Amino acid sequence: VNINVTDESGETRPAEWNEDQTLLDTLLANGFPVLATCGGNASCATCHTYIDPEHIEASGERTEAEADLLLMLDDVATENSRLACQTEYSVEMDGATVTLKAGM
Ligand code: FES
Repeated sequence: VNINVTDESGETRPAEWNEDQTLLDTLLANGFPVLATCGGNASCATCHTYIDPEHIEASGERTEAEADLLLMLDDVATENSRLACQTEYSVEMDGATVTLKAGM
């Protein structure tokens, strides 16, 4: 699917998301500056993103570890927050806009 990614400088560019990738894989493969310090284990929050309201449901359910971590980020996390490492591919994510918001 094709998504648009807005980085922390506010610049937006397209990215291609393939079926075998998490959102984090996609961001890294497209050269976005995500530290992914924990290696995709839902414990560092450097892959924190906001999904546009029209696609947040399509991004799926938060994993338990993800929900716990986002709770600790309650000053910046919103109902549109997802950890990219926990966000699986979905055809319904085509056209989504993802905004990077590194945490911690
Ligand atoms: Fe660390 Fe996603 S890469 S929480």
